[in-house]
Amino acid sequence: MKTRDLSGHREYSPGKSTKEVAKDIGRGEQRIINLSSNENPIGPSPNVVKTLRDKSQSVNRYPKEAAKILINKIAEKWGVTESQIWLSNGGDGAIDYLSRAMIEPNDGVLVPNPGFAYYGMSAMFHHGCVDEYYIGKSEEFKLSAKNVLKRYNGQKIIYLTSPNNPTGGVFPIKDIKKIIDEIKEDSLVVIDEAYGEYCDEKSAIKLHDDYQNVAIIRTFSKAYGLAGCRIGYAIVPERGSGAYTRVSTPFAVGELSCHAAMAALGDEGHLEKTVNMAKWSREYMRKNMDMNVMESHANFVLVEVGDANEVFKKLKMRGIVVRDCTSFGMPEYIRVTCGDKKQTEMIVKEINNLKE
Ligand SMILES: Cc1ncc(COP(=O)(O)O)c(C=O)c1O
Repeated sequence: MKTRDLSGHREYSPGKSTKEVAKDIGRGEQRIINLSSNENPIGPSPNVVKTLRDKSQSVNRYPKEAAKILINKIAEKWGVTESQIWLSNGGDGAIDYLSRAMIEPNDGVLVPNPGFAYYGMSAMFHHGCVDEYYIGKSEEFKLSAKNVLKRYNGQKIIYLTSPNNPTGGVFPIKDIKKIIDEIKEDSLVVIDEAYGEYCDEKSAIKLHDDYQNVAIIRTFSKAYGLAGCRIGYAIVPERGSGAYTRVSTPFAVGELSCHAAMAALGDEGHLEKTVNMAKWSREYMRKNMDMNVMESHANFVLVEVGDANEVFKKLKMRGIVVRDCTSFGMPEYIRVTCGDKKQTEMIVKEINNLKE
């Protein structure tokens, strides 16, 4: 196969799997604490597990019904129309569908730096160009309209991540409004709320009432504990929402994933437990780690450790996996996912021990 020239494309580097690390350091998988990928440490709701078992008999059929019911439930939850919900293969799939719908060759896409890598990758697959706005240490990690607008020059999509990965900060709604007010009508502001459940700020979804160039991304991968199911969605403006059937794959999401998502939505207790645990964990890490820990509104914290790669390796040898933020362009930082009580206490102890 002779592919097109992909040399300018970035590779996505995910956090290490537990299995990989266990093999690398010669320990049993159950003795590894994986805090690298912002997954839910308590797993999916028991309702989800039961539903997946019950529904597995029908996977010989194409998924025709469950997606419709799930779309209806999500639309009801957010008070929008069904056509505004674009179900997708995780939040990543929503990013791709928005790229397909919006980008023409050489159109610009404006992404945060540091930020989630897939925005730029998807733009490149779709022959767009990537520009960055800066929200790093020199900007004091501030998510502000000023930092975004400084770099805006008509890009077709502007990604705002709130809470941001990997910094954990939130975009104030007034700043998001300011951005929308200042940009051209044919630019789309995409607010990625993959970690939205963990923050106290309200979703930006209400902006749909006043604007036709805002989309929101949500996922079941994080607080709902369904990362392995690959299911998420975009909530798009009414105008333009009909593009979904032209840009989505024939069956955008799997039947079991849809059933899992419905079961997860039905267990609010599990969601609450998950969010409370993350809130406790991020505060505990901030108070007790002998390092500079950024304030976080998500299920992870960014920690200034000096040499991230060195710290990553040392923790790995002790059976703890974190995210070395070198791939985010931040070689002095690691990102630590909020674990359960035992895991959180353990990571704090191990990080503090590194200093000795
Ligand atoms: C900011 C952000 N958006 C979107 C995603 C995509 O998540 P998923 O495709 O699992 O829904 C992630 C995953 O880590 C993320 O951090």
